[in-house]
Amino acid sequence: MKTTDVLIIGTGLAGTYVALNLPSNMEITMLCHHSTNSTLAQGGIAISLDQKDSFEAHIEDTLTAGRHTNNLEAVKTLIESAPDQIHTLKELGVEFDQDAQQNIHATLEGGHSYPRVIHAGGDQTGQSVMSLLDQKIQSAKNIRILSGASLLELVVDDQQAIGIVYEKNGIIQVLYAKHIVMATGGLGDLYEHTTNQEGSTGEAIAIAAFAGVKCQDMRYIQFHPTAYKNKDKGYFLITEAIRGVGAYLLDAHKKRFMEPLHPLKELAPRDIVSKAIYDVIESTQEPFVYLDTRHIQTAYLKERFPNIYKTLEKDNLILGVDLIPVTPVAHYTIGGICTDLMGRTNLNNLYACGEVASTGVHGANRLASNSLLECLVFGKNVAEHIVSNHEHTSLPSYSMNPPNHWKYTKTTASQNYLIHKAYIQEIMTKHVGIVRYDNQLKLAKSKLIRLLHQLKKVRFEHVDHAKSYNLVSISLMVVEDALAHESLGCHYKEKKSEKKGLKSC
Ligand code: SIN
Repeated sequence: MKTTDVLIIGTGLAGTYVALNLPSNMEITMLCHHSTNSTLAQGGIAISLDQKDSFEAHIEDTLTAGRHTNNLEAVKTLIESAPDQIHTLKELGVEFDQDAQQNIHATLEGGHSYPRVIHAGGDQTGQSVMSLLDQKIQSAKNIRILSGASLLELVVDDQQAIGIVYEKNGIIQVLYAKHIVMATGGLGDLYEHTTNQEGSTGEAIAIAAFAGVKCQDMRYIQFHPTAYKNKDKGYFLITEAIRGVGAYLLDAHKKRFMEPLHPLKELAPRDIVSKAIYDVIESTQEPFVYLDTRHIQTAYLKERFPNIYKTLEKDNLILGVDLIPVTPVAHYTIGGICTDLMGRTNLNNLYACGEVASTGVHGANRLASNSLLECLVFGKNVAEHIVSNHEHTSLPSYSMNPPNHWKYTKTTASQNYLIHKAYIQEIMTKHVGIVRYDNQLKLAKSKLIRLLHQLKKVRFEHVDHAKSYNLVSISLMVVEDALAHESLGCHYKEKKSEKKGLKSC
């Protein structure tokens, strides 16, 4: 029987930060399923450092972006704990970019009333932070990485999470742990177009829900306004920070369109900019709008945004010279597993932090660059709670019997999962996007329920089926939540029921 003190599911910033904040005498296992989105984060980390800025202003901006539906205590915790976490990152060796006076340089992003987004490596904040923290994880003797493993089930005994069932190399296995931390990120890859890594399908949320864990706000999927379609790959994020240094958005007639829509123009909160782009695309029938940096010097843009510059250059687009075609794509999951401010869920010894968790900190729409901060602040809190509880936690050895409903035997790899995933992505993209219609949501629901029923009978017989079942379940959670609630942020629910010209898939 395999056991560990702390099992962390996910190796992004939230999970990594929990691991690094735990003492070295604890045995930690980190389960890794897909590449983390944290490395893709460009813009940076929001923190009010300047004398002219304040916690209050950052709190107010977060609440405004979130339509004042945020959990205020969570917002205060996030923002007031930021300096300590940035201090820790610096001590660990993260080098934030500096201005000419050698102060940490902060920039503007959408919805912020003051330039307070700090960054590293220009536009490679996530990569810079994660590569350093990864090294620390690799060299820690008490941390073991279980890679290429798929989470299948939470094992629960008497309201306590005690382990997981997972698949690795075609073998179903069980791992028991005194503390389990969900840090698996979001579900952008349930959409055809996303900034997320492949495999970011959010099924850990469904798996938690199957075990009776409370989840909330699943309807709030945030769309990033400016993604560029790589010629040979998927969508590539173009950070809001580029609009923060003055880039404009132009329609197909090369006219700015944000000016009459919001006082912050191109730097309005993200959902407002995404909806404006959606409307322009609908009305012009061009598949994108343009990011215009032609009034900004190429040399400056190349130095400030080296990764974006390099990526666009490969497609013969030069920042400062060419217009960049951009479009909104699925980016961030605001809802998820309900937790308190220490990351605790309603199941004992099960924690969640980072994008997979829902503390209510973002309300109905996340403020730009509050997400890496969320991983740090709530990841640290989870670690603290585990430490304070460790002595009193034990595994109930009498009930550590692996679930016996898995009938799985190893067979040749099947394509079923990929077919199901593509079908789900098509449904989510067509019916559950930025603008949602009641009848389209109902159509999505009936299609997903049909697939769910097919898979229910076979879900324990093949890992592919179990994975498909989890994907349909998480998609249904999004759709049902969207049907049941009004829209306050992130997406727009149209009153009229039909969208003209929408083909059924
Ligand atoms: C960006 O840099 O525009 C994305 C950062 C975020 O999602 O907050």
